[in-house]
Formats: sequence, structure tokens, C-alpha cells
Amino acid sequence: MKNFFFICLFSVCFNTKHFYLMSSTNSVITGLGMYVPEYRLTNDELSTMVDTSDEWITTRIGIKERRIMKDKDKASAYMGAQAVKQLLEKTGTKPEEIDLVICATVAPDYIFPATGIIIADMAGLKNAYAFDVHAACSGFLYAMTVADKFIKAGKEKKIIVVGAEKMSSIVDYTDRKTCPIFGDGASAVLVEPTEEKIGVMDYILRSDGVGVKYLRMNAGGSLNPATEETVRNREHFIYQEGQPVFKYAVTHMADVSAEIMERNNLTADDIAWLVPHQANLRIIDATARRMELDPAKVMINIQKYGNTTAATIPLCLCEWEKQLHKGDNLILAAFGAGFTWGSIWLKWGYNS
Ligand code: UT7
Repeated sequence: MKNFFFICLFSVCFNTKHFYLMSSTNSVITGLGMYVPEYRLTNDELSTMVDTSDEWITTRIGIKERRIMKDKDKASAYMGAQAVKQLLEKTGTKPEEIDLVICATVAPDYIFPATGIIIADMAGLKNAYAFDVHAACSGFLYAMTVADKFIKAGKEKKIIVVGAEKMSSIVDYTDRKTCPIFGDGASAVLVEPTEEKIGVMDYILRSDGVGVKYLRMNAGGSLNPATEETVRNREHFIYQEGQPVFKYAVTHMADVSAEIMERNNLTADDIAWLVPHQANLRIIDATARRMELDPAKVMINIQKYGNTTAATIPLCLCEWEKQLHKGDNLILAAFGAGFTWGSIWLKWGYNS
């Protein structure tokens, strides 16, 4: 009986240890790549297209210029593939080593097939399967979280998460309320397993269908398929009621950034960088203030690229890569259509 008890105890300990070993795998970003088109659409040029001004756009949004993909035969997948190729080159990774591509986009090349599949094909990722994640401006956070789960499940070892957005294809350049906001671009991260205590530490993801009222594309889906009338009514472009979206965005992005800090006992001193979605400088400032963060710790490149939707956060990571150190605490935060919003606490994985 006594022996039986010890055997049971050993088996529980072994299994617990085994479980501990299995669950101690983290997912970490090990490389970055980006692509933005060359053409710069400045506020001054926009002012010749709609009734707006550099002063209005700069003070209300914080954007000076955005990149535009002018080539008609190049879209989100092309830009995503360029970002992936740069990532592979920088990290010395062979295309055939990639197991999975998760693409976040609201401007897919086609409604189907998934843009991730086209990116994998263009970048020569012969052994990868791919799919898209549809979470608008929070797309990168959602896709990163999915990658984190795949890595922790153990089968896939090298996953690329890519945000790729030819926003200019769905922006109405006769609507001054939306056309200054968005820009084109793509960025990709490589995600791998590690036994170290780095990488994705915690995340919060939220969504609320109240957002469909305020931010959507009206036509082209199964509810309202394309007709001559939908085209005539310009319903294949972004529709946004800016003010309510702004109010939800300010509250939720700040709340969720503060919440992830509080529940992990992180203070402003512990945070090296806030990596916010770049929708509006005023939303970013409000989030940083709520976190009581020194403004010098906030990544901001909205003035150069505008809102590239799912690409904003990895574009920031790319541009700040050289300033990041292994073990740095980063808070990634976003808010977008759906509504979707969320935050990720990330411990940076390498020195470059
Ligand atoms: O990333 C996805 C989630 N999206 C967001 O987070 C966007 C959230 N919303 C916003 O960032 C802001 O609401 C906008 C940037 C979209 C708009 O800024 P706002 O300060 O909320 O402006 P508003 O819509 O309240 O408009 C104020 C005034 C209006 O004129 P009146 O009615 O007061 O005479 C607008 O017609 O500004 C006018 N306006 C403009 N004026 C010059 C709107 N757009 C323009 C413009 N140029 N481009």
C-alpha cells in the first residue's frame, strides 16, 4: 500500500514536471521585415484633392504624409511578400523553413483566397500553409496571439505574422473625413519557440459588434454584394463616423493597456516601450498618459505613414529594432473596426 502511494506520488510529480516543461515554452519574435511603397502623399497634395489643410490634419490626427502603392498590379500580397523577403534575409532564414504564415489585412488582394497564401507563394515559402485573420486595426495583435497558441501547441516552429495593407484601394479620395487617415504598407515578424522567459507574456483581446454601426465597408460582402448601385454610391470604400470611433478608441485602448500592466504588477518604470496602433496621435497620447508613461517611451511614426491598419505595430517594431534590448518590456495596444481592441505584454527577444 505504502509503495503504491509513492508510485502514485512519483507519477503525479513526473506528470506535473512534464506538464511544466511543456507549458514553459514561450513564443518570441526573432526577426522583423518591412516594406512601404516609395510614393509619399503629403498633406499639401491631399489639400488639392479635398477641402482640407496641412494644419487641420497635423493638429487633429498627427499625420504629415502617407505612402501610396501607385502600381496598379501590386497590392497587399506584394507588399507583404516584400516584407517577408526582407525578414528572411535579415534573419538568415531559408524560405522552406517557414511552417505557417498568418496574415492580418482588411485590404486582401481578393475576398478569397486568403492573402497569406499569395504572400507565401510570392516569397517562395514552399512548406508553409497560410490563412488570414480579420480583425482590422487590431489584426496584428490577434494574429500574434494565434501564432503564440500554435507555437505553444508545439508543432509549428517558425511562424510568420504579417500585416499587409493597400489601404489606398479602399479609401474614398473624395471624402475628406477619411482620406487623410490611411496609408499603405506591410510588415512581418518571425515567431519561434523559446524556453526562456521572454516573448509573449500576456494578452487581452476584446471585440464588440457595436462597432459595425460606426466603421465598416458597406458593400462587397454577402449582405450587400456589388451592384452598379453600390459602386455608384461609393459603398466599396471605408465608412467611418470619426467621433464615436474616437471616443471608443480613446477609452478602450487606454483601459486595456492599463489593465494588462495592473494584472501583471507592471509600473510605468518597468515598461521600456509602448507600441501603439497609429490611428490618431491624440489617441496614442491618451493611452500613454493613462499608463503614466514618459512620452519618450512611446513609438510614434504616424506622421510618416499614417494609419496602415494591421501593419502599424510591426512597422514601429521594425523602425525601433536597433533600440530594443533583450528582456525589454513592451506593451502593444490597438483599437479598430469591429470593434476590436487589445493589448499584448511582450518581453523583447534579442539585441540587434
Ligand atoms: O484605426 C481604426 C480606428 N479609427 C480611429 O481610431 C479613428 C478615430 N477617429 C478620429 O481619429 C477622428 O475622429 C478623426 C480624425 C476621424 C476626425 O477628427 P475629429 O476631431 O473627430 O473631427 P470631426 O469629425 O469632429 O470634425 C470636426 C470638423 C467638422 O466640421 P464642422 O462640422 O465642425 O464644421 C468636419 O467637417 O472638422 C471637419 N473636418 C475636416 N476639416 C478639414 C473633417 N475632416 C476634415 C478634414 N479637413 N480632412
